[in-house]
Amino acid sequence: MNHMNDTTSIEAFIRGLPKAELHIHIEGSLEPELMFELAKRNDIALPFATVEEVRNAYAFNDLQSFLDAYYQGAAVLLHEQDFYELAFAYLEKAASQNVYHTEIFFDPQTHTARGVAFETVLRGLRRALDEAERTWGMSSELILCFLRHLSAEAAMATLKEALPFRGQIAAVGLDSSEMGHPPSRFRRVFDEACKQGFRTVAHAGEEGPPAYIWEALTDLHVSRIDHGVRCLEDPALVDHLRERQIPLTVCPLSNVKLRVFDRLEDHNLKKLLDAGLCATVNSDDPAYFGGYIEENFLGVQKALNLERADLHGLARNAFEASFLTADAKAKLLVELDEYVVSASVTTMS
Ligand code: HPA
Ligand code: ZN
Repeated sequence: MNHMNDTTSIEAFIRGLPKAELHIHIEGSLEPELMFELAKRNDIALPFATVEEVRNAYAFNDLQSFLDAYYQGAAVLLHEQDFYELAFAYLEKAASQNVYHTEIFFDPQTHTARGVAFETVLRGLRRALDEAERTWGMSSELILCFLRHLSAEAAMATLKEALPFRGQIAAVGLDSSEMGHPPSRFRRVFDEACKQGFRTVAHAGEEGPPAYIWEALTDLHVSRIDHGVRCLEDPALVDHLRERQIPLTVCPLSNVKLRVFDRLEDHNLKKLLDAGLCATVNSDDPAYFGGYIEENFLGVQKALNLERADLHGLARNAFEASFLTADAKAKLLVELDEYVVSASVTTMS
């Protein structure tokens, strides 16, 4: 045995692992420090006196109690520069954790409802993405999410606003309060989005039942399910997801913070993998849930006793499940496999 014990070496293995992130809400990466800075700059009152008070307030009972804090936090974002700084801070962190490719959700309705133009949001985000590509060679895509607690008509109006920027947005998605807001309500909007050439994804089976996952597949024609952890309650659904290798973008720390699972040790990620599903690990809203992608990987490895092969599989699934071109995927998968081989030579001796 060399001087590195087993725990240190698997942690080092995770840190160095080439990663793709497919489930990150950019508004959910707003750290309290930046929230205060922007509130001051934009002259917006916050119901907190200190960064510490904000962090202490982040104790959630369920998805809705988190969403209330998340929408309140997003109110400090007004100008293009604010969206740029928000996204650049996330990208810098992701680069430091070996994220090679990221697909980022944004919620335009959260901002247009406050009088911020769609174009302001998009320009700020894009400027950060372009800089990340130049600086670290990190590739990225944007996914426009419709807020499902609002109407299908409001979603359709948002889709229309996005059309002039069609080339800058890879897909549309569906987020916000899941219970009582089934995917089928948005069938027409997603039909139109498909017609306009967008790919589609949707949050389903986080708090909602397996029936919502079925609806996302059949009514919204999604290429991936965001979360999807409740699929295991329906064996026919598991068969369907496995046969088609429909990816699930799982967010372990989020699921514990929002009480989908009591503890990380109770998370079903390993069961999803053992069922042959294409599961991936992601951060969801890292500023609110206590960690970015690396902390999610480190947490599940320890709690579920994952092996290198599981971690390699999770990283591989993310590249496979991404919206990268076949060529780009193949290139990154070679790099990933080479990393795994070289890491096992250097850290398992
Ligand atoms: N679920 C639904 N809506 C969201 C989430 C989530 O985990 N994060 C940000 N908006
Ligand atoms: Zn999410």
